[in-house]
Amino acid sequence: MLQEIDQKVQQLMWDVQKRTLDRMKQSYDVNLKTSYKDLVTTVDKENERYLNQRLREIDPDAKIISEEGYGDQVNDLKGHVFIVDPIDGTMNFVMQHCNFAIMIALYVDGEPTYGYIMDVMNDKLYHGGNGDGVFVNNHQLNTPANNSLHDSLMVLNAGLTLDGGHNVREVGKQARGLRMYGSAGIEMIYVITGRIGGYLSYLKPWDLAAGMVLALELGLVVKGIDEQQVNVLSSNLVLVATKQVASDVLELVD
Ligand code: IPD
Ligand code: CA
Ligand code: CA
Ligand code: CA
Repeated sequence: MLQEIDQKVQQLMWDVQKRTLDRMKQSYDVNLKTSYKDLVTTVDKENERYLNQRLREIDPDAKIISEEGYGDQVNDLKGHVFIVDPIDGTMNFVMQHCNFAIMIALYVDGEPTYGYIMDVMNDKLYHGGNGDGVFVNNHQLNTPANNSLHDSLMVLNAGLTLDGGHNVREVGKQARGLRMYGSAGIEMIYVITGRIGGYLSYLKPWDLAAGMVLALELGLVVKGIDEQQVNVLSSNLVLVATKQVASDVLELVD
């Protein structure tokens, strides 16, 4: 049953990638949400409606949490819950036409079960979970080397780095280098493939859910900076990292 859902959601990710690439050849509206730094396009909304409709066909009893308002009112993680980000990195989508992702996660009775991150412009679907491992397309990923902060590149939330809260500038200083890509999905991909040692950011459920499944499946650490286990519905400042980077970073942040 779960494996059948997994196969169908993988196909859905390729279908939505194709739709998104086609849609980018036409014009679309860009609107402000809370400020000029926070955008939504007609493609975000169309993708979300399409994904939610297909997910309801795939798993009719599941609930859906999604960013742009076409999901369900969900207050707990009982049963099957899909968490959907129809375009992650909307600013990059609009300004760069690259460095954005589409993400879905399936949580079953609160357990992170399957994660899917589509790197749209690179034709790569990162997916896995449920003990099966993590794959990019059909190629299985290994757990990244357990490097320390000194030997790793870090991604830190841009706003937090600018205002210097939680002592994060010290994390940036002690890392081998600092990177910011502007899409939680792409940044999670970099952690699970070992290109980045850790990612520290404020994450909403749809920013975190898919990457959290894939990171945990690979034995990486997903923690709140208060060192609490992360609840995907109420998470705030979250660290996704190798074990050693997690321990180094949690010593530094306050
Ligand atoms: C955003 C991106 C960005 C992160 C923001 C998210 P969105 O997602 O992941 O990298 O810094 O916090 O909101 O809104 O483009 O889906
Ligand atoms: Ca958004
Ligand atoms: Ca997002
Ligand atoms: Ca989004």
